[in-house]
Amino acid sequence: PKRVRTRHFRNAKRDGIKITGLTSYDQLTARIFDRAGIDFLLVGDSSGNNVFGYETTLPVTVDELIPLTRAVAGAVERAFVIADMPFGSYEVGAEEALHTAIRFMKETGAHAVKLEGGVRSAEQIRRVVQAGIPVMAHIGYTPQSEHGLGGHIIQGRGEGIEQLLADADAVQDAGAFAVVLEMVPSDAARQVTERLDIPTISVGAGPDTDGQLLVWTDWAGLTTGRVPKFVKQYADLAGILGQAAAEWRDDVADGRYPGPEHSYE
Ligand code: KIV
Ligand code: NA
Repeated sequence: PKRVRTRHFRNAKRDGIKITGLTSYDQLTARIFDRAGIDFLLVGDSSGNNVFGYETTLPVTVDELIPLTRAVAGAVERAFVIADMPFGSYEVGAEEALHTAIRFMKETGAHAVKLEGGVRSAEQIRRVVQAGIPVMAHIGYTPQSEHGLGGHIIQGRGEGIEQLLADADAVQDAGAFAVVLEMVPSDAARQVTERLDIPTISVGAGPDTDGQLLVWTDWAGLTTGRVPKFVKQYADLAGILGQAAAEWRDDVADGRYPGPEHSYE
């Protein structure tokens, strides 16, 4: 299969073809999603919650994300792999952002990086892009600034639309190849999508964007906690695995496993 590149994102918007992305944190799911034709895989700092068991994404480090990103990048033949820059790895300035982006590109085989923030991160985006590294921007609700935003709150409502549009303009100007809109009203996301030349990717931003992205563990029902309203669950992996584990436990307890077909002569 022909590799997805940034050109694919541009052309998809021009041609009205929807772009699809899922998060992935390991080789097994990366291979499955890639073979299924998902356009891009984000090795998100949502691994903080979904792999490492933290309450938020804030504690996640570059050193934790690098091996996950390497596993995902090494597994795909077609999908575009994006490394998520964690909290504390780019906010200090453009130099810090570039150092972090270079680490991901050199050490993982990812094809691009993502970082949070619009106007406030424009200098960082510009510097990384100038070095030849594609950047996906992320505006609207930005989980790394949960405490600054006062919680898990929808962005771009009412007066908030002005900030959202300013952020959208800033990241396009800075050279981002695409922008994630997280948890904004559908109407605001539609306005941003019509305004920008670069594709918009919705995470809880309604249908009128150029693409959709979901956290795979929410989407596949592996998450056992609460999932956001915008997630549509496409499988019940927690149910399937829970049932399998209970059946196997009973089979072992009752002597049904292992059978002769699972044993060596
Ligand atoms: O880390 C992540 O999974 C993300 C997406 C939800 C946008 O940043
Ligand atoms: Na993230």
